[in-house]
Amino acid sequence: MKTILVTGGCGFIGSHLVRLLLDKTDWNVVNLDLLTYAGNPENLRDVSEHSRYIFVRGDITDVQSMDNVFKEVRPSIVVNLAADSHVDRSILDAAPFLKTNVVGVQVLLDAARRYDVELFLQMSTDEVYGDREGQGPCAEDGPLAPSSPYAASKASADLVCHAYRRTYNYPVLIVRSSNNYGPFQFPEKLIPLIIKNILSETELPIYGDGMQRREWLYVEDAVQGILDVVEGGQVGNIYNLSSTVPKTNLELVRALCNLVAEEAGLDPTSVLQQITMVADRPGHDRLYAVDVAKVRDELGWAPKVSLESGLKTTVRWYLENRQWVERVISGEYQEYYRAVYGRGWEMSEGELLVGDRSGG
Ligand code: NAD
Ligand code: TYD
Repeated sequence: MKTILVTGGCGFIGSHLVRLLLDKTDWNVVNLDLLTYAGNPENLRDVSEHSRYIFVRGDITDVQSMDNVFKEVRPSIVVNLAADSHVDRSILDAAPFLKTNVVGVQVLLDAARRYDVELFLQMSTDEVYGDREGQGPCAEDGPLAPSSPYAASKASADLVCHAYRRTYNYPVLIVRSSNNYGPFQFPEKLIPLIIKNILSETELPIYGDGMQRREWLYVEDAVQGILDVVEGGQVGNIYNLSSTVPKTNLELVRALCNLVAEEAGLDPTSVLQQITMVADRPGHDRLYAVDVAKVRDELGWAPKVSLESGLKTTVRWYLENRQWVERVISGEYQEYYRAVYGRGWEMSEGELLVGDRSGG
């Protein structure tokens, strides 16, 4: 029986992927995760006793421990989702992003080569293409132009994968997805943060003019896309995933205000008044937009969940799981929140100027 090693399986997308793999395949699923602030074993409590599921705590940047894991597990497939994943944190401090998202990928690729892993899928993002404002949707062969330290780390990892393909003929695949949303997403990302703040009657922060656009993809559609690529993707290729429906942040947040008000029995007018325009994120891309013709034509993938229905499911989940939210924000979250929303771009780490993009 095949064994698939999923890294970052206790995070948002990873937990949905692990569940899908246990449900749709007969493979053994090993979840390797460091359990950073974003990794939560509770996200997989329902499958923790599954006979084909194993959890291993480990750090993808640790050469020796990855060697031990690969020697023990002998996976045939690796899907790497482990990462530092939030743009705002990467603006406050790029260092962990370069370490986890670039060095971690190199360490994993080397271990995978040493132990003859047959397929390595690297999870990437549409953010590697940079700002698409004034341009059409980007296909997989489009230029890389990352804007944030997070996006630069992901683009770098893609290049490392490409180099391992060219140099060692190593069987890699890359998936570049647009913004995901759904249950179990850490409330630093826009959608869960807005739901949480509506319920706690605090401000709903919109960066800049709120006219930036993202192509939100429901997480279950995204993980189905990852599985489709694992099963049918052409080795060495890149596949974009997206809903291809761009929405402005302001449109999205207003829709969320109305939806949460309806579902929680609140007054929509007063919820909408919580919207607060705040200072923009430095280097903020106006538009991410990708072309998904390749994954559609080659693998028959298409998103099944509309934004309207995905948002409804998501809002209901957060309303029914308020204690999950309380628990994940009980640690360092408060400090993070103060750093970002207290204009942390400009002042952090003892007055370090991280927000100056003047080039001076
Ligand atoms: P997440 O932050 O929710 O989860 C990341 C997981 O990786 C956590 O469980 C964390 O504990 C683990 N991790 C972090 N550092 C690790 C290390 N050194 N060793 C082992 N595990 C470690 O992230 P997510 O939103 O689920 O994203 C998963 C992947 O998908 C990332 O690679 C991200 O760049 C990519 N991606 C995310 C989105 C999105 O909208 N969320 C979109 C496109 C691509
Ligand atoms: P986010 O969920 O952080 O994803 P990404 O930066 O990877 O696209 O943000 C989505 C969009 O929402 C992005 O344009 C930034 C914006 N945003 C806000 O306006 N306010 C917020 O508090 C956050 C977290 C994001």
